[in-house]
Amino acid sequence: MGKINDQIQAAYEVFRQKVDFQPDVALVLGSGLGGFSSELEISAELPYSEIPGFPVSTAPGHVGRYLFGTLNGQDGKKVRLVLMQGRVHYYEGYPMEMVVLPARLIQRMGAKVLFLTNAAGGCGDGFHPGCLMMITDHIACFVQNPLIGPNEDEIGLRFPDMSQVYDLQLQEQIRAAAREEQIELFEGVYAQLTGPSYETPAEIRMLKSLGASAVGMSTAVEAIAAHHAGMRICGVSCITNMAAGLSAGKLSEEEVLENAQLVADKFQRLVKASILRFGETLEVGSNG
Ligand code: HPA
Repeated sequence: MGKINDQIQAAYEVFRQKVDFQPDVALVLGSGLGGFSSELEISAELPYSEIPGFPVSTAPGHVGRYLFGTLNGQDGKKVRLVLMQGRVHYYEGYPMEMVVLPARLIQRMGAKVLFLTNAAGGCGDGFHPGCLMMITDHIACFVQNPLIGPNEDEIGLRFPDMSQVYDLQLQEQIRAAAREEQIELFEGVYAQLTGPSYETPAEIRMLKSLGASAVGMSTAVEAIAAHHAGMRICGVSCITNMAAGLSAGKLSEEEVLENAQLVADKFQRLVKASILRFGETLEVGSNG
């Protein structure tokens, strides 16, 4: 067995000892979006600090724990969720394999779908602060690839295909959820940079010319690692600000967190309605 696989297995055993819950869907909550937990009937929690060898998030607004619970819809619909409340970022100084470890453990827990969310700067046409963008593809070539190093065949292929990272059926279900909830939903390509400095206006012009509509410091590497391990992926960015050079004034963390709070309700409605739709086509509850 490989080193990463051993690490995931050791973390999985801690999870099995402490938590009796089998998630169907995993949801990673981005900056300021942690309020989603109020939607769940909570069954258990597992702080990262209780998992030996696990990275602990130092980013503001990132609690650093898994929360397990059931999302209850109308007509008795139920989806069992694990929330990753707070993620670790490459800019915090962790090696990339540590950054993606929490996402890999989610796959080992049995979740089939990974729903990634984040706060991002927007550079797409028509975007405005507070709008939501469904991620249809990503640009990750400005950050280190999380699969660098010896490949562990138990996890996935050495050269995994990335031509459709974001699952088409999940995308369709998110679109349908947005229509149902009457939420304006943009779509586009998310570019991950390392941070922690925000981009320069020249970098944003470059990214826009490469086809990006949103830019941030997370998500794409988690998508790569989870896709490598066979999960179905989807994602939504909360555009908290126009990217550098596209509006007057400086970028700040305060603006990002404040705007994320302002749209938290809309974002939560979209994510909830989407996940309940996923539940209709997943074999929900059959894995536990
Ligand atoms: N750039 C990078 N990351 C971000 C931004 C941004 O403009 N807004 C929120 N996260």
